[in-house]
Amino acid sequence: MTAIIRAESVWKIYGQGSPREVNAVKDVSIDIAQGEVTALGGPSGSGKTTILSLLGLLTKPTKGSVYLEERELSSLSEVYRTKVRRERIGFIFQAQYLIPQLTSVENVALPKLCTDMSRDDAENLAKERLTALGMENRLDFRVAELSGGEQQRVSIARSLMNSPDILIADEPSSSIDEALTKDLLATLRGMSEENGLTVIVASHDPTVLNWSDRIYHMQDGSLVE
Ligand SMILES: Nc1ncnc2c1ncn2[C@@H]1O[C@H](COP(=O)(O)OP(=O)(O)O)[C@@H](O)[C@H]1O
Ligand SMILES: [Mg+2]
Repeated sequence: MTAIIRAESVWKIYGQGSPREVNAVKDVSIDIAQGEVTALGGPSGSGKTTILSLLGLLTKPTKGSVYLEERELSSLSEVYRTKVRRERIGFIFQAQYLIPQLTSVENVALPKLCTDMSRDDAENLAKERLTALGMENRLDFRVAELSGGEQQRVSIARSLMNSPDILIADEPSSSIDEALTKDLLATLRGMSEENGLTVIVASHDPTVLNWSDRIYHMQDGSLVE
């Protein structure tokens, strides 16, 4: 297995030293295989979202190290980490942050409007990404007019705008039914097989877990076999 991301003895302690201290992640070491779908299972509160934030460089560990291709990134500057995150990692998080009054294309193009890409180029790329996800007949629909599964695809399309090689999804099936979940997983699997995309997904849904190449389980902040 070639590891693209590696966490070594990471801890995440929220509110350290306060009466509300929480050991959300305790001494976790994990290798994320390049080009595979890795799933993190475990009950609510077991630390899945926190691990995803650490692996996705959104937060720094309280203790321990996170490596991206052998490079230790947990101690590097926030500016550098943000750059790496923007260039390489896509996120599909629970709260989708879509803007209901804007169309699918506008929502997907949005993050690119703050870069040096022109509006036309951003919208064309957005159409390409949406079309690849089977949304060609919904490009100009407002997000408020879309089903849950379609909204989910809009979020995926948006997370793929910067052509990441790592995609991190937190509870991606929480707002869609089982048929759409299977669709979504097939899409993610296709991207991993065709483009070598590395997918890390946290879920307590057995459908999601059973579809992945590798499953890790979390309990009370620790990885369990
Ligand atoms: N920002 C935070 N501040 C304090 N505690 C937090 C924060 N985020 C998560 N926690 C706590 O850390 C634990 C793990 O949370 P989380 O990683 O969200 O678990 P999961 O995604 O498995 O439900 C929970 O007990 C939660 O209450
Ligand atoms: Mg969570």
